[in-house]
Amino acid sequence: MLRAYLDNNATTPVLPAVLEAMLPFYREQFGNASSIHHHGQQTRAAVESAREKVAKLLGCRPAEIVFTSGGTESDNLALFGITRGGDHVVTSTIEHHAVLNPCKRLQSLGCEVTFLPVDGSGRIDPDDLRRALRPNTRLITVMMANNETGVLQPVEEIGRIAAEADIYFHTDAVQAAGKVPLDVNAIGCDLLSISGHKLHAPQGIGALYVRKGTLLQPLLYGGSHERSRRAGTENVAGIVGLGCAAQLAREGFSNGEVERIRGLRDRLESTILAQTESAGVNSGSVPRVPNTSSIYFDFIEGEALVIALDLKGVAVSTGAACSSGAIEPSHVLTAMGLSSDRARASLRFSLGKQTTSEDVDLLLTVLPGTIARLRELSPVYNKVQS
Ligand SMILES: Cc1ncc(COP(=O)(O)O)c(C=O)c1O
Repeated sequence: MLRAYLDNNATTPVLPAVLEAMLPFYREQFGNASSIHHHGQQTRAAVESAREKVAKLLGCRPAEIVFTSGGTESDNLALFGITRGGDHVVTSTIEHHAVLNPCKRLQSLGCEVTFLPVDGSGRIDPDDLRRALRPNTRLITVMMANNETGVLQPVEEIGRIAAEADIYFHTDAVQAAGKVPLDVNAIGCDLLSISGHKLHAPQGIGALYVRKGTLLQPLLYGGSHERSRRAGTENVAGIVGLGCAAQLAREGFSNGEVERIRGLRDRLESTILAQTESAGVNSGSVPRVPNTSSIYFDFIEGEALVIALDLKGVAVSTGAACSSGAIEPSHVLTAMGLSSDRARASLRFSLGKQTTSEDVDLLLTVLPGTIARLRELSPVYNKVQS
C-alpha cells in the first residue's frame, strides 16, 4: 500500500545522515561526557561540536545553548526558571500546552498570567501586549510559529517591546526551527525553545537558548552539567543527532529544500481549494511557516476524515485534543474565532524534508472521494444541499 506521511508537525522521521552521525555513540563511543578519560573526552568533543552547530542555527554563542529532553522541557525550564510567585507573565491564548499548562501552574503558585487574544488570522496585536505590561511583568512568552496553523507571530516587534520595558522574552520556536531562519539577536529574545524531533533529529532531545546574563533557576538539581542549568548525564547520541539535524536545517535555507517544501505545500493547498467546495485555508493570508496548511472542510468531522485518509494510506491530523472521552475543538482555531463546527472540520497537513511530490499526489487523489463519501453521510450537508 502506498503511504504518505503528512504529519511532520507531530514528529519528523530521523534523517539517514542524522542516524549515521548518532550510531557511533550507541556503539564504540559510549563514554560519559563528564569523564576525564579518553572515552569521556571523545563524547565531550562530540557534545561541544553539536552545541556549536545548534548555536549556528540560532545565531547565538555555543555557551548559551542548554540541551534538554525536548520542547516541553525547554518551555518549562524557561517559564519556571525565570518567574517567582508574585510575578506577572504575559502569554497568548494559542500557545502549545507545553506553555499553557506551565502558565496555569504558575497561576497556582501565585503568579498572575495574562493570556493575550489573537485576531481572526491567529496573530496577537503588539498594542495589546504593550497595554498588558505591568510594573511586575517578569516574562513575555509568545510562540514563534503555531503548530496547527503555522502562523508566525511578530516576534521581532515583541522583542523590541520586551527590551524597552526590560522584561524577559521567551519564544517557543519548536515549529519554526528549520522552517524559517532564526536569529536570536534579530528576534531580541532572551530564551528560545527548540525540539529535535520536529526537525528530523530523534524524539527526546531539545535545547533552550539562554541569553548570557539571564538569571535562570534550574528545574533539575544534581550535577553541574550544562553549566548547572540542567543537571543529568548528557544524552550524547541525541545531542549529536540534534547537532547534525541543525546543520541540515541551516543548509535547507540555501540549497532549495525549504522552497521545495513550500512549493509542495502551495500546490497541495491550491489544488484542494480548486477541487473542493466549502473548504478554505485557516490563516492563509498571513505569514506562515512554509510546510504547514490548516484547511477546513465544512460539514465533515475532522477526526472521521483523519481516520478515512489513514485507511487510504495518508497520515494527517486535526488540532483537536481528546480529553475525557470528548473531542474538544482546537483551542487555537476557536481562539481565532472559528465556530466549534468549523474548528472540528479542520485538518492540518504538515510536510517535511522527506515529503515527495508523489506523497502530495496520493493525498490529492484520495481526498475528493473521501470527502464526498463523508459528506453524503452528513445530515447537515444533505439538508443544505436539498
Ligand atoms: C509549538 C510546540 N511547542 C512545544 C512542543 C513540545 O515539544 P516536545 O514534543 O519536544 O516536548 C510542541 C510539540 O508538538 C510544539 O508543537
